[in-house]
Amino acid sequence: MALRRPRSPEVPPKLLTRRKFIKSASLTAASSLGFAGYGFSNALDLPGVRRVNLELPALPAVWDGLRIVQISDIHAGPYMGVERMARMRKMAMKLDPDLIVFTGDQMDRRSSDAELFVRGFRGIEAPLGVWGILGNHDHFIDPERSEWALEAAGIQPLVNRGVALDREGSTLALVGVDDLQARGGRYPDFSVLNTYPTSFRICLCHQPQGWHQALAAGAHLTLAGHTHGGQIALTGRNLNVARFSTRYIAGPYRRDEAFLYVSRGVGVGALPVRVGAPPEIDLLTLRSTAAGARVAA
Ligand SMILES: [Fe+2]
Repeated sequence: MALRRPRSPEVPPKLLTRRKFIKSASLTAASSLGFAGYGFSNALDLPGVRRVNLELPALPAVWDGLRIVQISDIHAGPYMGVERMARMRKMAMKLDPDLIVFTGDQMDRRSSDAELFVRGFRGIEAPLGVWGILGNHDHFIDPERSEWALEAAGIQPLVNRGVALDREGSTLALVGVDDLQARGGRYPDFSVLNTYPTSFRICLCHQPQGWHQALAAGAHLTLAGHTHGGQIALTGRNLNVARFSTRYIAGPYRRDEAFLYVSRGVGVGALPVRVGAPPEIDLLTLRSTAAGARVAA
C-alpha cells in the first residue's frame, strides 16, 4: 500500500513588511556599492601586461621576434596621477621592448593634464625609439599642446608622418596618422603609408575604425586603442557598449595577411569604472610565419 504524503499546510502569502523592505533595499544598495567599488578599484589599478604573439606572413624574417610595447588611452588627469604613470613607465621599460608606441588619448581633457603626462612619462626610452600619435581627447585639449607634451616626455610624435627602421637592409615603416575626429584643417593622412612601397608597414591609428583606410593604404599591422575594451564589458566583446562606435573592441583581428590590434588601454574617460575590461599594457611580439594570431597570455 502506497503511503500518502501528508498534505502540506497552506502557506499564507508573504507580506513585505517595512522591516523586510528595508533589509532587501539595503542588500541591493550594498551589492550595487560593492559592484561600483570593484569597478572603481579596477579602474585605478596598475595595468596588467597582455602578451600577444602576432604571426604575420608579410613580416621579413629578419624582423622576427620584434617586441613592441603599446600603451594606450592613459587619460592623464583626475583619475590618472603622476605616480601611477611613473610606475607604468618603469613597467614598460622592464619588458625589454625594441620600441614603444603610444596610441593616443595621452591626456584627458584639461590643459594641465599635459604637465601631468610629462612628469609621469619623462625619461621613457627604447632601442628603436618611443613614438606617439594623438587621440580625440588630445584634440579636445589642443593638438599642438598635446604634441608638445609627447616631445617633452621624450616621445617622438608621428602625426601624419612615418619613420623607416632598418635591420640588416630590411626596412620596417612605422607610420602614425592624426585622429579621425581631427578638425581645423587637420585630418588623418593615410597616404603616408604609400611612401614606403617596399617595406613592412605598421600604422598607428587611435580609433580602430580607421583600419579600413589603413588597409587600403597598405598597412600590414595597425595598432589602435580608443575603445577601452568597452570599459564596462560584462559579456566580453560580442555584446559591448563600444560596439556603438566600432565592431573592433579589443585584441587582434585579421583580414587576409593584415592585422589590427586594439588595446584596452590603461586609463578611463569621464566614468572612473572598469568592469570586465581591465587596464592593460600590451607586449606584442611579431612573428614572421604564415599562421594566425594567437593570444599567449
Ligand atoms: Fe580614450
